[in-house]
Parts: sequence; C-alpha cells; structure tokens
Amino acid sequence: MRTSRSLSLLVLQALLGLTHATSSKKFEVTLSLDGRTSLIESDTAAVYYPKKAKHPVLFVGNDGSAETGGFRLWDLYGGQKSSPKELSAFKTGRSKLVEIVYSIGEDEEDYVVTLSMQDGLIRLYEIDGKDGKLKYLSGVDKLVRGDFSAMCTWRSKSTGGQYVYVMGKRWLYRFLIRDKPSKSRRNAGIEIVETQEFAIPVEPNSCTVSPDGKVYFAGDNGKLFSFPAADSTAKPKITEIGEPAGGDEIKGLKIYRGKHDTYLFLGLEDAIEIFDIKKLDKSLGTIKFADEELELNDFAIYQPGSKAHPDGTLIYAGENDDGAFFGTSSLAPVFKSPSKLKSNTKYDPRDCISEHAKPKKCSSLSDCNGYGYCPSNTRSKKATCDCFPGFAGATCNKITCPDNCSSPSQGTCTGPNTCTCKAPWTGEKCATLAVPARYETEESGGADGDDPAIWIHPTDKSKSRIITTVKSEVGSGLGVYDLTGKRTGGTSGGEPNNVDILYGVPFGNRKVDLTVAACRDDNTICMYEVTPTGELFEIPGGIQPLPEAVKELEEEFDVYGSCVYHSPKTGAYHIFINSKSSLYLQFELTTKDGKLATTLVRHFYAGNRGQVEGCVVDDPNSTLFLGEEPYGLWSYPAEPDAPAVGTLVDNTVVDGGKLHADVEGVTLVYGKTKQEGYIIVSCQGFSEYNIYQRAPPHNYVMSFTIPNNDKKGVDRVTNTDGVTAVGTNLGPEWPYGMVVVHDDVNEAPDGSARTDATFKILSLKDILGAKVVEGLGLLNGVDDKWDPRK
Ligand SMILES: *[C@@H]1O[C@H](CO)[C@@H](O)[C@H](O)[C@H]1NC(C)=O
Ligand SMILES: *[C@@H]1O[C@H](CO)[C@@H](O)[C@H](O)[C@H]1NC(C)=O
Repeated sequence: MRTSRSLSLLVLQALLGLTHATSSKKFEVTLSLDGRTSLIESDTAAVYYPKKAKHPVLFVGNDGSAETGGFRLWDLYGGQKSSPKELSAFKTGRSKLVEIVYSIGEDEEDYVVTLSMQDGLIRLYEIDGKDGKLKYLSGVDKLVRGDFSAMCTWRSKSTGGQYVYVMGKRWLYRFLIRDKPSKSRRNAGIEIVETQEFAIPVEPNSCTVSPDGKVYFAGDNGKLFSFPAADSTAKPKITEIGEPAGGDEIKGLKIYRGKHDTYLFLGLEDAIEIFDIKKLDKSLGTIKFADEELELNDFAIYQPGSKAHPDGTLIYAGENDDGAFFGTSSLAPVFKSPSKLKSNTKYDPRDCISEHAKPKKCSSLSDCNGYGYCPSNTRSKKATCDCFPGFAGATCNKITCPDNCSSPSQGTCTGPNTCTCKAPWTGEKCATLAVPARYETEESGGADGDDPAIWIHPTDKSKSRIITTVKSEVGSGLGVYDLTGKRTGGTSGGEPNNVDILYGVPFGNRKVDLTVAACRDDNTICMYEVTPTGELFEIPGGIQPLPEAVKELEEEFDVYGSCVYHSPKTGAYHIFINSKSSLYLQFELTTKDGKLATTLVRHFYAGNRGQVEGCVVDDPNSTLFLGEEPYGLWSYPAEPDAPAVGTLVDNTVVDGGKLHADVEGVTLVYGKTKQEGYIIVSCQGFSEYNIYQRAPPHNYVMSFTIPNNDKKGVDRVTNTDGVTAVGTNLGPEWPYGMVVVHDDVNEAPDGSARTDATFKILSLKDILGAKVVEGLGLLNGVDDKWDPRK
C-alpha cells in the first residue's frame, strides 16, 4: 500500500511539474469576467440545469456572512450585460454548502440541498424550474453535528439512489434523499437518511464524483484523494493521488462530461487545471483569469451553450480587491484550438439517471426494511442486512443510539441516532448539560467577535469588567462591559483576536494591569492599560511590532491567538503569540526607557502542526494549555528554558477522545490547592464546552452547551469560538465567578440573525453546581477567593 501510494504521489508531482517545462504541449487560455453578482461572502456555486429549454438557467451560491447568511438564487443569464440576475435570498444561517439533486422519488422533483453552520440542519428546497421559485420542504430537515466544508452528490447506477456526501473535520457523512419507504402505495414524502459515516485523513474543502462512481476530495493540506462510491456501509479504501506541483492549495473540483472523455477541472487559487480523468498525472491545459487579482474559491460548470457563451459557462466564487462575489465567464476559449478538448453542450444531468435501477430485493430479509443494504450472501441462513447508522437487527428493524442516550435517567432513543433528552440534558448522547446564559453583552458595532477576558477589580469585585474582542474590520477593537453586559467603554481598531489580562506589571514607579492581545490589522502585540476603575488607556510601548528575527522563522508570520503568563519562578511576565501555522512565539514583557518592551525568548511548533489559536497558562504550575483545532488539547511547560515538549491532554472524537473539532478557546479556573481547579475548552463545531480537571491526568469532568434563555431573552450560543472564566466570587449573583463565551450568530427572537456579535455571560455555579451534578461536589474544586494580584 505504502509503495503504490508514494508512487502515484510521485507521478502526479513529477508530471504536474513537467507540464510547466513542456508547456508547448499544454494549452493555456485566459478567461475574462463577463458577468458578476453584487458583493457576497461566496464560497461555493452550483448550477441548475433547467427541465425545459425555455426555462431559466439557475445558479445557487452560498452566503457565508453572519447577518444575511444562507444561499441565494440567480437567473444565470437574466441580468444586464449578461450578468446574473438575483431572484431570491434564503437566510438559513451562515453556510458554505449548496448543491442540487435531480429527479427524486416518484414525483421526480429537483431540489436544492444546503447545510447551515448556524443550526447544523440539512434543508431541501423544491425547485420550480419554470419560474425559478423555491419551496422549502418543512419537516424533512436532518441534523448533522459538526463543522462541514465540502458537499457533493452521487447517483448510484445500480440502485438509482441519490446520495449526498457531506465532509468536515476529518469526518464524512453520506445521506440518501428519497421517498420514504412505505408499505402502502401512498407517497409518504421525502426523507433524508444517513447511510454511512467514516473518518477521512483531512478536512476537505471540495469534492466531486466522476460518472464511474469515484469520489474525489481535496484536503486542507493540498492533497487530492479518492475512493469508490458504493451502495454499501463498508468504509472504502481511500487512496492519496497526489498534490499539485508547487504545493498550491486545491480550491475546487468539478467534472466536465465530454462526449467521449470525462475531464476533471481542478481549481487552484489563480487558475484551473484540466485533466483527463483517466490520466490525472498530466494536465491538458490551464485556465487563467484576465483579472490577475482574482482569488478563486470554488466554481461550477454549465455545459450547454447560450447566446453569449456558445460552449457553456464557468461560474465561480471569487475574491478581488473589491471583495467577494460570484463571477461568470464563457468557456469558449477552452474548446478552441490548440486545445484538443471537445465541448459537449448536450449534457443534461438527468440523462445519467438509470430508469431501471431499483434497490436489490432481499427476499428473505424483508428488503432490510429500507434501512440497510442487502448482503451478497442472502441465501445463507446466517445472512443479515448491512444496516445504515442508527439501525440494527438482522433486517434493520431496530433503531439504535450512541450510549443508548444515557438511558434511562438522561434520555431515550426515539429515532435512528436520535435521542430525546430529559432537561437539562441535551446533546447527541443526552450527556451534555444545557445551561442558559444569564446575560449577553450589548451590541457594539462588529460582526466578528472572538476570545474575551475578565478583569477583576482590585477592591470591589462586583465592579469587575468583561473585555471582549471584535476582530472584523468594521467595529474592530476591545469592548468593556459590566457584569450584566452593559457597555462601559472600549477601544477602536487593531482587529484584536484573543484578549487576556496581566496584573501588576511594573511600569516606572507604578504597577499596571494590562490587556494583551494579538492585533491582526497591523500584525502586532497590542496592549492597553486597565485603570483601577476599569477603563482602557493607551500606554507607551503598547503596540509592539514583531521583531525582525521572526521573519527568519517564518517569512509571513501572521499573528493569531495569544495568552499570558506570570512566572512564579522568576517573576517575569510573558506573552505567547501564535500563527495558524502552529508556530508559537514566547515574549518576555519588560519596561525600557519609560515604555513597554518585548523580547522574543522562545519559539516552537505546537502539537501536530495543525492550526492553533486558543491558549491559557496555569501560572502557579507553569503550564501552557493550547488547543490544536483539528486534533486536541496539549500542555507544554511555560518557562522559556523548558523543553518545548507537548503532552496530549485529550484529542478529538475522530481519534478516540472527547473533544469535537474545532478545538478553539481554552480557559482555566483555579482551585484552592494545586490539585484542584478546572480547564474549560470550547468545541466550535458542536458549540459545546468540555470541562477537565486542572491537574494531571486531566480527567474529563462534564460538558455543557448554552440554549436559549427565553425568560431573559438571551439567545443560544452557536458556532462558539473564544471562552474565558474565573472562579472568584464577583458579588451576590456570581458566588463562584462566571464564564463568558463568544456567540457567532446573535439570533433575534424570531430566529433571524442580527448584524453584531455578542458575548454570553453564565454563572459558573449554574454549571458546576447544577442540580443534576450536585452529587459530584464540583464547586469544592473552585477557589472562590482567587486573587490574581497575589
Ligand atoms: C435503551 O434504553 C431503553 C430505555 O430507555 C431500554 O428499554 C433498552 O433496553 C436500552 N437498550 C439497550 C441496548 O440497552
Ligand atoms: C504541574 O505540572 C507538572 C508537570 O509539568 C505535573 O507533574 C503536576 O502534576 C502539575 N500539577 C498541577 C496541579 O497541574
């Protein structure tokens, strides 16, 4: 296996590289931008082939923004100067994924399929091809937990089954969209049923399926993979094919069905390479764009000709200096000489649907009740069906759930992998505690928040402040709020990402408290003084550019996450700054000539070199805890002269742990002794938080999530990112301190999204002291008198 893998890898690399040298044999065309939409956070595009020639050609594109997120529908050729004409917008919540499926069930309807990041629901919209209207199929939604980044469809030739692949953080789900199996003749409606799930080696950003039933996907590491699609629950063999020469990231994958040959269009950031699907080691030609600024995200192909585009149209999600949008170009240059490619303008996805395909009858096994595949050895007395996830029994007539929904005390299994939980339990196994927030911060003019901090007042703890970050360009800065979320001040600019507090830093003859963040706007460490009344002021040396030495470590180090450390050994103050590459920089903070100054004292690559961001330091024990988004939580010794050797605290479910990717914010609550206290980690894809014991071996304690608080009108937390907590008594309402979390989409009572992000404020007592976990005595592990200045 190893030999063949590295061989094919070599071939693709070598030949893709070679094509540069022998470019005379390879064609290159430059496409001009013929039409474009208004600005929109575009990631993926799909085209709908009309049922009849006189119907409009529709294309759907996602909207990835928090406020208007979902997808939109355009008439591809309906606008002025052949620009697409927007027909409608569907605000299902921030989304990256839209696809189209054809001729489903007895009624042979066509649907738009989309998956929202806000609520994790797959939704279906029936397409009325005649006038381009969409009808939402209520009651059909399917919940998928996680964070997903690629979607593609496959129609099985042998069973006619219409499948949708959904891929995310090293995990893949496959769903079947069909008429519900029904004993009666009556149509019982459409259903989305899961048929398969398995681990994959990467987080894909695109996928496509060839006519011969091979699924191709490209990972965040730039590599292309494939596996055979089959009407089966068995995990297929995944083959690594290779990567583009030069290590460019693959941005999109699409199939072009020629008359005789099939082509794979492989999108890179500024070009599309075209391959014969049978010879993936040699690019036939390259599509470039006249707009040299254009960065491609994804694309779709409409093969039939139109007046303006006789050889079909390329539709792409792209970005240039103006912002992101969807653009269209004629494919005609691709099919002109010297290219040997022949266009196929007669292609219609409906032609590939086999009329005779029917699920294999499984006589002795009652057709697996429609929720499994018939085994090949049906005649054997021991034969049993291969059941879809959530179904069990020889004929798949039973349903199952993970951990049986922590039955009987916390929930019951009421559907395939579907639990009905007893409040306050929730989550996929009814093992997650639902704890509503008590308050939320006022809106502050920015859509993208991240990691907050809590500043503890030196004398009157109830006058402590919540400090938040807004990292979006609009509204960027730190926000300062009282403990009920009322804004009391803030700063503007800098695009700070994560904020933390250093207490009592010597500055001249004073001791000052500082907010410390990494500012992405100007790639600096940015600090403000917190006055004893909780106001933020600029301080000399508060903006620290990275030293030249960083360039030698990494040509383009872009600051990202950060955290702080006050050493009990040396009394020194430290700042950790990371970049997405997983490079951690450790600085010592001092004062020089009346200004704050920083010195780089250590650097190391964290974890498995996956993307990092959130971190926190256990000061008394000199331990840095850091999250590696796709893999897990690590601990590192925090002293600059200690070896940078990491210890895994827990990893993600894919690798057998209890965390769900992305592993984002990390915070710490101190205990009365060094053995007590907790670490809290936010899991973005699930919007859940895991709590671990602070001391090794860091046993898992519990997890919680934040639902709507209808009484107080505080909405639930979705797509969570940063988190902070203190256990200190902050007054009568906060006897064991509080937890403050980032909420991606601030939902109005009707479920629509507001423009500005907010942070939610929870009582730590509501979590660790909740009735259902009272017996565990978890509050005893919190030091409610913890004083950061001691
Ligand atoms: C799951 O829990 C139910 C009660 O909620 C119980 O009747 C059933 O036997 C349990 N199933 C398994 C496999 O333990
Ligand atoms: C502190 O860290 C050391 C290893 O660095 C570990 O052995 C010890 O148990 C830790 N104690 C706590 C309370 O974390």
